[in-house]
Formats: sequence, structure tokens, C-alpha cells
Amino acid sequence: MKAAAGEPLDLVGRMRGEISAAGGAIPFARYMALALYEPGLGYYERSERVVGRGGDFITSVSVGPLFGELLARWILDVVPGVHGLADGPVEIIEAGAHDGRLAEDILGAIERLGGADASRFGYRILEPSPVRQSWQAARLARFGDRVRWSPSMPGRDTGVPGLRGVILSNELLDAFPVERWRWSADRGRWVEQGVAWRQDRFEWVPLPTPPPPGWELPPELEAVLPEGFVRERSPAAVDWWANAARSLEAGCLLAIDYGLDAEEFLVPHRAEGTLRAYHRHRVGGDLLASPGEVDLTAHVDFSAIAGAGEREGLTTWCRQSQSRFLLGILESTRRSPSGFPEWTQARVRAFQTLTHPEHFGRSFRVLAQGRGPAPAGAR
Ligand SMILES: C[S@@+](CC[C@H](N)C(=O)[O-])C[C@H]1O[C@@H](n2cnc3c(N)ncnc32)[C@H](O)[C@@H]1O
Repeated sequence: MKAAAGEPLDLVGRMRGEISAAGGAIPFARYMALALYEPGLGYYERSERVVGRGGDFITSVSVGPLFGELLARWILDVVPGVHGLADGPVEIIEAGAHDGRLAEDILGAIERLGGADASRFGYRILEPSPVRQSWQAARLARFGDRVRWSPSMPGRDTGVPGLRGVILSNELLDAFPVERWRWSADRGRWVEQGVAWRQDRFEWVPLPTPPPPGWELPPELEAVLPEGFVRERSPAAVDWWANAARSLEAGCLLAIDYGLDAEEFLVPHRAEGTLRAYHRHRVGGDLLASPGEVDLTAHVDFSAIAGAGEREGLTTWCRQSQSRFLLGILESTRRSPSGFPEWTQARVRAFQTLTHPEHFGRSFRVLAQGRGPAPAGAR
């Protein structure tokens, strides 16, 4: 469908315009960026309710306030031992805050658990989208000027003073646009997948881009990797992490997300890659159908992310399953239970959901990298 002259373009019209201006195809990463984030039209611009039980998928945050309370406990345990953060103001900096629910849970818990230390903590949300910022501001109004917003990472290299605190995200990195590459056994090389518009629908087309550096296969793998094996990569996620690392003067980066180590991508049961479309708690279907109406997401490559942090001078403090990470925090709440809410049946069930291997426990991983050595409790 073509929009009539003067009519505002819908998302499909916007994508078709870009495809045509690019000479017939755009890289999939660009398609994904438009589908998720095009102002006013993209999936994450439409409604705060796409995340949660009434939406398309749930996250650990949707399970209830317990997740934020446990993260608050971790922050309160770790910060006093961090090089450069023993006293003075500290910021909790969240990216991918969506509707502000995790910020609300963490800030509420810091107030209850932090005692005299609570006043040290300010909260900053990194939010490029004005519409998402308005959802967050409405939810967090009661915290007044303890919450601030920045449209992007205030980088050290932009001359802004370095950040001091904890830069955290839950399911941010899996939401960055990914490149999609397909193995051509005939040509013995990876071929980037682009998106074209043909016969009234979006279609995959090969692009002539050279394969990413370092993606040469060892001969024994090249001999067996089947035609059409798919692998994604997200330079945008890696760049975001590297930039966050550069901005960090004292403290750490903490990411919780589902993902794999580099070598876990090239295994037979991942021949279709890890990119998925989610709609109403169902996964599957044509990845290029319904842009703007489905979530598009791919597994995080934790090796690439951790490597980027280490290249920026950070030390890996912890890299483990969400289950082990949260069990460690649970131990801490047992040692000093003061202020931590009572373990009602509902909260025990929430903990099981957050840690059970079939829910969030195994496929979700935690990466913490800091400036300086790991303090006690960082695990
Ligand atoms: C899968 S949702 C996770 C929402 C929430 N953190 C949770 O766990 O329920 C990903 C969120 O990250 C946001 N996002 C993506 N790229 C971003 C960026 N560069 N900066 C800030 N937020 C971003 C998306 O708009 C979306 O709200």
C-alpha cells in the first residue's frame, strides 16, 4: 500500500521508502531499528503495556517487585566496597527502563533497606525516547528529583564528568538491532541478510557486505556447517557497553539478559539463529511479518560484551546464571534480614520463577564488570 500525497507515512511506508532510497534493500539491523524504535511508529514506542502479563512477553521485572528488591540489596552490599565509592553521592543508572517499573522497585527498596545510606543514592534513567520517558516520569513522580533522565550515555569522551555508581539494565542488550548472517557452504563464507520489498511483502535478500573480522571458521567446522546456518551479531550492543565502560569513573556495569557465550551459537540446534518474534506470549512466525506489532529480539553474545568491557579496562566481577546470582543475594538477605520484606508464599513463588531453570534461572545470565577489583559480595 502506498500512502497518498500529504498523508503521514505508516511504518511499512517508511521502511519501503528507505529500501527504495537504498537501491532495493536495507540491512536487517536497519529494518529491526525501524521496526522497534522509529519515533511514534516502532514497537517500543506504541505502548508501555507490550511488556508484562497483559502484553507480548514477561521479564523478571513483570514477576513482581522481588527482582528489584534483590538488585537493591546487591547494590547496597557492593557499593561501600567499590574503589572510589566508599562515601559521597552514588548514582544508579538504568537503561532500557521501559515503563519505569524496575526503577520504582529498586528505589522503593533502597529507601526501605538502605537506612542512613539511602540518601547517597540518586537514580538516572538513560532514555532516548520522549514517549517512554513520559511513561517513566508518571510512574516515578513520587520520588521527585531523586530521579533524573539523560537521552544517552554522558560519555567521558564528551567532556561530561565520569559516572560514579552502577549502570544497570535488564533485557536491554537483547533489544538492540542485530545483523543477520547466513552461511553459504558453496561460497565458503557468511553472507549478510538484507530486507527488500517484493510482491507486497518484505523478503530476505543477500547483501554484498564482507563478513565480520574474526568470523573465519576453523577448517573442521567449515567442512560440516550446513548451508543456510544463521548467526546474528549486534555491534550496537557491544558499542553501547564499551561506551558505558568509558563513561564509568567509579563503579560497575551490570547487565541481566538471556544469552550465550560465543562458542554456544554454532551448535546444530541453533541452525536458524536466535532471532525471534514475540506476540502475545507466543514465539515464532515470519520474522518480517507485522513490523511494529511484534517484538524482535536475539540472544546476547556475552563473550563479545565482556570482551568490550575488558578492552575498556574493566574487570569482570561476575559472569554467571541469574539463578546463582540471585541465590547469592538471598544468602545476604538471610544474614542481614533487617528491612527485607517477609517471605510470603507469593514471594517464595516469585523467587522460584526468577531462579527455576525452565523460567528465568538458566537461560538468563548476569554480567558485572567494574573499574577496579571486585568488592566483597559482588560474586
Ligand atoms: C525488552 S524491554 C525490557 C524492559 C525492562 N527493562 C524489563 O526488564 O521489563 C527493552 C527496553 O529497552 C529499551 N531500549 C532499547 N534500546 C535502548 C537504548 N539505547 N537506550 C535506552 N533504552 C533502550 C526499549 O525501548 C525497551 O523499552
